[in-house]
Amino acid sequence: MSVYRMILNETSYFGPGSITKVPDEIMARGFKKALIVTEQSLIDAGVSSKVLKLLDGIKLPYEIFDKFKQNPTIQNVNDGVAAYKKSGADLIIAIGGGSAMDTAKAIGIIINNPEFSDVKSLVYEAPTKNRSVPLIAVTTTAGTASEVTKNYVITDPERKLKFPCVDAHCIPIVAVVDPDLMSKMPSSLAAATGMDALTHAIEGYITKDAWAMTDMMNLKAVELIGRNLRGSVLDKNIDAVTQVAIGQYMTGMGFSNSGLGIVHSIAHQFGGMYDTPHGVANAVMLPFILKYNADYTGTKYRDVAKAMGVEGTDSMKEAEYRKAATDAVVSLSKDVGIPQTLPEIGVKAEDIPQLAVAAFADGNTPGNPRPTSVKEIEEILRSAM
Ligand SMILES: NC(=O)c1ccc[n+]([C@@H]2O[C@H](COP(=O)([O-])OP(=O)(O)OC[C@H]3O[C@@H](n4cnc5c(N)ncnc54)[C@H](O)[C@@H]3O)[C@@H](O)[C@H]2O)c1
Ligand SMILES: [Fe+2]
Repeated sequence: MSVYRMILNETSYFGPGSITKVPDEIMARGFKKALIVTEQSLIDAGVSSKVLKLLDGIKLPYEIFDKFKQNPTIQNVNDGVAAYKKSGADLIIAIGGGSAMDTAKAIGIIINNPEFSDVKSLVYEAPTKNRSVPLIAVTTTAGTASEVTKNYVITDPERKLKFPCVDAHCIPIVAVVDPDLMSKMPSSLAAATGMDALTHAIEGYITKDAWAMTDMMNLKAVELIGRNLRGSVLDKNIDAVTQVAIGQYMTGMGFSNSGLGIVHSIAHQFGGMYDTPHGVANAVMLPFILKYNADYTGTKYRDVAKAMGVEGTDSMKEAEYRKAATDAVVSLSKDVGIPQTLPEIGVKAEDIPQLAVAAFADGNTPGNPRPTSVKEIEEILRSAM
């Protein structure tokens, strides 16, 4: 057996009402003041306010930092670092989707590793020496799994690119996955974030560094998300929302340790160039990349098709189960209202050469099961126009 590494988080809570554990964790760990990283719109919508009420209940002083956008930027991180320093806090609590949690991770890392204050040098596997400021991550979307991963993604608007950062020092000390916070997500957001999680699970299952333990997590996540996303998006059924929430966390443990592939390499460039929501960018590209990778995945698409709920996969021939897996993903994507072509999300043909060069250079590209090239990525992008 080769040598494999698993890095996981410490304590996580799941299920409706799990945010009530946040005060217990704060008191048990003796924190005195928190910087809350969340959006004002989420407070106004009655989402983050549920957690703030619990903090008021234990009289924990806190300040709110909300000066960040979807696809958070270098400037957002710098502003957050300044806010943390000014606040006198000893804890960060992120309440929101990947954008809030990733901003909080970058703030916490820079506070304890100030030699990376330029933010840009955190790209890929920066050699930070110290753990982040303690971070409690309360996710309000069911997609990125940033509450459990050692990853965060920051946007550089000057270079028009998003750069993934991978650092075990950023993992939150407590993760909270409470479906009550997710049940009122607009359908388009629930669909996009759910498809992001499905992409993590499938890319994490077929990536080059996948192995038995990450397979266990990623394949079960394909099943939980593949079979519950319709109910979660279309009916807002709380059981389905809960299963998708658990599925996205499960693949978070998996993909954080296995890596991903070129769906994410390309999606990061759409985010950098057009500010495309991350889940939408992945969801549109996933079927095209599934077709492109099919011949490099052994029997894994049989497992994916079966996990998605396709009947009769055991007796299918190779070409049949490969098609069945892709078809199942396309069918789910259409049912939850995801656009199917790149012009629908604003991608321009004249940008394709630049997008392909940047996608090829993305840190996820080496993990793709099929060796690729700038030219082949260009061809995939043109086929999706
Ligand atoms: N750290 C990781 O491992 C990882 C993995 C994938 C993606 N990402 C990054 O995460 C970011 C995307 O995060 P996201 O997809 O969770 O979206 P997001 O955090 O950008 O949020 C999108 C929008 O949804 C709103 N929203 C969030 N929760 C809501 C709720 N419960 N109800 C109503 N509105 C709500 C937010 O206010 C925001 O306007 C991107 O920057 C992406 O690159 C990180
Ligand atoms: Fe993602």
